[in-house]
Amino acid sequence: VLLLCTVCAGAGVWIWNAQVISTADQVDFTRPLAVPPLAPSRMVDGRRVFDLKAQAGEHDFGRGATPTWGFNGGFLGPTLRAARGEQVVVNVTNALDQTTTVHWHGMHLPAEADGGPHQLVQPGRAWSPTWKVDQPAATLWYHPHLHGETAGHVYRGLAGMFLVDDPATSVDALPHEYGVDDIPLIVQDKKFDGDGELDDSSSFLGGVGVLGDTVAVNGTVGPYLDVTTERVRLRLLNGSNARSYEFGFPDGRRFALVGTDGGLLEAAYDLDRIMLSPGERAEIVVTVKAGERTVLRSYPQALETGLLGDRFTGGADTLDILQLRAAGTLAPRPAVPQRLVAVPKLNRADAVRQRPFTLSGHAINGKQMDMTRVDAAPERGSVEIWKVVNNDGTPHNFHIHDVQFQVLTQGGAAPPPQLSGWKDTVYLPPNVTFELIMRFSDYADADTPYMFHCHVLYHEDAGMMGQFVVVPPGGQPGVIDHASHLA
Ligand code: C2O
Ligand code: CU
Repeated sequence: VLLLCTVCAGAGVWIWNAQVISTADQVDFTRPLAVPPLAPSRMVDGRRVFDLKAQAGEHDFGRGATPTWGFNGGFLGPTLRAARGEQVVVNVTNALDQTTTVHWHGMHLPAEADGGPHQLVQPGRAWSPTWKVDQPAATLWYHPHLHGETAGHVYRGLAGMFLVDDPATSVDALPHEYGVDDIPLIVQDKKFDGDGELDDSSSFLGGVGVLGDTVAVNGTVGPYLDVTTERVRLRLLNGSNARSYEFGFPDGRRFALVGTDGGLLEAAYDLDRIMLSPGERAEIVVTVKAGERTVLRSYPQALETGLLGDRFTGGADTLDILQLRAAGTLAPRPAVPQRLVAVPKLNRADAVRQRPFTLSGHAINGKQMDMTRVDAAPERGSVEIWKVVNNDGTPHNFHIHDVQFQVLTQGGAAPPPQLSGWKDTVYLPPNVTFELIMRFSDYADADTPYMFHCHVLYHEDAGMMGQFVVVPPGGQPGVIDHASHLA
């Protein structure tokens, strides 16, 4: 058995301790890490065209063939990669027996191309969104967003990365050879039922949905990575339904945090831990010594996760993620530069509006998701401050489509370095108000909403989601005609 979980016996008073697992030192790193292939693309009429087919298949999690879903394969999907300024087209085909959608998480794009719950792709149908990539270099991702079914679709394997390239907002000195010294890591926890099938039943009291005891990285359980360079860039994506991770190394080694959700930071930050809640990304650069082995691990979270919170998010667990095996001779790589890219700050003074959002009890501002209700209608190009707070003691985070925001304040204070750059998803410890500042889309479409929601997928599905449309100056939201977007 590759990945044993130790289930604590204390199922009495501290019943939620049944969640506590610790696989550290028990994972046998015997499988080379799978690296998702780069998706092939072709230029047609000046547009970069990709094909993605959602399909059923199977995958080996170290326990034989498990039925799964994937894009262009049995599990997960290829990495899409496009440059700023390019017009992309993605031909999404649905070969599943159920309706799904494909959302480009973190991407700035017209609402009709967003792939949210209104852009349904029925079985046997195709949907070909097109947009111009126009944002800084970043590690984005894609996944289904069918209202009420997102958790199940992602859990079964529908997810992949989407890398944006942009010379003006990248740094050549950072490792950037895909699959060599620049490695995508889609981190997901899974659990299995007695038949070896994926078990997506909710964990303890259904607080956050599924928490698994087995970590798969790019689908590989018990993975190792052969490192051949002095430094390696890890593009971490928390692609889990519910679990948060606090990544670090057992030897306490420090690493450079160089990027977050929406791009590189202004300055590299030297850290020994980085916490990611579901949907968040971090780019870190790790330095290794010739011949050594070390393990990327997830630790019990130091961050306050609230009333029983760390139990709910699996935040009390220690989990091995990936073994790094450094070769005997390493190709040199430059030191991480201290200054990275310019991140123009959005100013409070430019905000034309503040909106409060309270996350509580599967609702936002007391309202559950309604596909026909528009909750906010910011004007095209305007700057707003969204004041977001989680006040029900359960862990939540907050994700906004289309825009990358900046954290102005967290609990009234300036944000820590991890939250100093572009973000599209932010973890919300209980009762801490976050002021998020963002400039809305230059794409106005009063009839097609973008989403904002908790990215704990069970919460999102249960209704902790709302909709906004971007309107022209002085405009009003239209009538949301759900069926008109059916592909
Ligand atoms: Cu990654 Cu609306 O989601
Ligand atoms: Cu939540």
